[in-house]
Amino acid sequence: MNAADTEPYGAPVLNKGAAPGEFLAVRDLKVHFPTDDGLVKSVDGLTFSLEKGKTLGIVGESGSGKSVTSLAVMGLHRTGHTRSKPQISGEIWLDGQELVSSSPEEVRRLRGQKMAMIFQDPLSAMHPYYTIGNQIVEAYRIHNKVTKQAARKHAIEMLDRVGIPQPDKRVDNHPHQFSGGMRQRAMIAMALINNPELLIADEPTTALDVTVQAQILDLIRDLQKEFGSAVIMITHDLGVVAEVADDLLVMYAGRAAERGSAEKVFTEPQHPYTWGLLGSMPRMDRDRTDRLNPVKGTPPSLINVPSGCAFHPRCPYAELNGGSSETVVPELREVGAGHVIACHLADTERARIWTEEIEPKL
Ligand SMILES: Nc1ncnc2c1ncn2[C@@H]1O[C@H](COP(=O)(O)OP(=O)(O)OP(=O)(O)O)[C@@H](O)[C@H]1O
Ligand code: SF4
Ligand SMILES: [Mg+2]
Repeated sequence: MNAADTEPYGAPVLNKGAAPGEFLAVRDLKVHFPTDDGLVKSVDGLTFSLEKGKTLGIVGESGSGKSVTSLAVMGLHRTGHTRSKPQISGEIWLDGQELVSSSPEEVRRLRGQKMAMIFQDPLSAMHPYYTIGNQIVEAYRIHNKVTKQAARKHAIEMLDRVGIPQPDKRVDNHPHQFSGGMRQRAMIAMALINNPELLIADEPTTALDVTVQAQILDLIRDLQKEFGSAVIMITHDLGVVAEVADDLLVMYAGRAAERGSAEKVFTEPQHPYTWGLLGSMPRMDRDRTDRLNPVKGTPPSLINVPSGCAFHPRCPYAELNGGSSETVVPELREVGAGHVIACHLADTERARIWTEEIEPKL
């Protein structure tokens, strides 16, 4: 029995297992870190899925659980990649195989071969003492029985594909000899060397200048087209997700606030938090008075998560729900085909706010 079935809290697991077409299916995932200050509920009942060849954008403020979700999918919470070992429950299905209950060896085998991750911080993913080439060669040889020479040749080809100039020379550089953008590319090369069917890109373009950003996004798109991979793109930059994502997951305090096709979530967002996030997006085409209001305040503590809807202390509409915003955790519900939100606002009230306050400013 899965731990989630016995836990007294959280949402019921609705869809057990992966549905046809779902390459990745995450069901009621919880990742909780015991700390001296209390239990940090970094991910607290998250459900989403992804098909092959598609890109899911995950957005949400800092600390909403985006990286912890990715590390859990990759099984990296078990390897010391996170500061402490979390309690994890729920289900993660990858191509029909459940990973939470799989052995660490089995997940390690899938990592690199079937799934790979571009980390938020390239330096944390690379060893300072080994050359870039050796690290890519190692990643390749774990999953392919080839000679060192053949692997090196392949590593050089891959560095070339990610746009590293003079790859036959740069392959022997150490990470510190690469600029930030080059390291990012080298990490992408390392992540893609085994043609992963699932690629998780965690802020792949943070701290890069706009031109390099665009090149890296093009690169991920090209490689996705070529290998038909499923991609999860995590970013603070709503402009980036608008450009690359098919579907969008908006996270707040370790849960999904809104989920749907990227087109719907951008053109007809329905959750008050998403309205605020879109209000935080820089807009050249509107003056300040004509824009959505950005989210006020700061993200909540994940040790003392606010009761009811975790967003209620910051939500301008919390008082419209007769107290339920403060006391009842909202479950995800459909507001359109494949479009779900976790919010207590009645449909008529939401429609009124949408027409009067949101749509004219989108
Ligand atoms: N090992 C750990 N022990 C305790 N708390 C942790 C641990 N790892 C992550 N957290 C906490 O879990 C929460 C979610 O972190 P996570 O890194 O997933 O956020 P994020 O959405 O990726 O944010 P950012 O946009 O800043 O990258 C944060 O509050 C973080 O401090
Ligand atoms: S449930 Fe209430 S507090 Fe939460 S987003 Fe909806 S209106 Fe706001
Ligand atoms: Mg992160």
